Amino acid sequence: MLEVSRLAAGYDRFAVLSDIGFQMTEGSFLGIVGRNGVGKTTLLKTLAGLVKSSTGAINFRGQELAGLDATQRARCGISLVLDRKGIFASLSVLENLQLAQRLGSTRKERWSLDDVLSMFPRLAERIKAPGGGLSGGEQQMLAIGRALLTQPDLLLLDEPTEGLAPLIVHELVRLLQKLSNSGLTAIVVDQRLETVFDTCEDVLVMSRGEIAERSTSADLRNHPDVLEKHLGV
Ligand SMILES: Nc1ncnc2c1ncn2[C@@H]1O[C@H](COP(=O)(O)OP(=O)(O)O)[C@@H](O)[C@H]1O
Ligand SMILES: [Mg+2]
Repeated sequence: MLEVSRLAAGYDRFAVLSDIGFQMTEGSFLGIVGRNGVGKTTLLKTLAGLVKSSTGAINFRGQELAGLDATQRARCGISLVLDRKGIFASLSVLENLQLAQRLGSTRKERWSLDDVLSMFPRLAERIKAPGGGLSGGEQQMLAIGRALLTQPDLLLLDEPTEGLAPLIVHELVRLLQKLSNSGLTAIVVDQRLETVFDTCEDVLVMSRGEIAERSTSADLRNHPDVLEKHLGV
């Protein structure tokens, strides 16, 4: 579904990513781990078209994305959840979801509002609350719910469990597992290795703007040497 080859990108003259290459298949969850500053967020932004690539190819379902801007890539079905900032604080949960639904209305509907509310019962409970009044975990769920309603073929999640209390992290991990079982395709970046291991079958280990290793979560868990070398854990 996605084939990235020889991809390089950065900010102005500051190169961050070099020679990134990987593939992923439809219906899989792919994890990305790596130390702070290695370029994980930059890679997601480059896939979504928020950072311009200098060289390389991004083939998505047979279409080359490299020349397309972020809006065009969203229309192709790529949705990035960067942080919780995409939420409108003064609009209710329902209004936030409806706005996203409108954005996705030109695409084939995979997720209805009801699907999202049954996937995230906490959002259903807080349907009238203003986005700004939600807890961090609820905001993360709303951000993901909004992304689903844009009807993505590929969801990109940057640090979905960052800053959340352990119980909420656990709940979010279970939700991500449910999304994975539903057939969604996603890339999950998280500093918390367990989030990635528990939700993704395959993992890319990034080091200084490159992909140092690709492994299954099961293998990586059992290789403290690799984790030590690239992640310092
Ligand atoms: N908007 C930006 N302008 C310039 N440099 C940036 C910008 N965003 C990130 N960087 C730099 O790019 C490198 C990779 O950052 P990032 O992709 O955020 O890493 P990660 O998500 O793995 O922590 C870092 O050296 C960071 O300082
Ligand atoms: Mg980051």
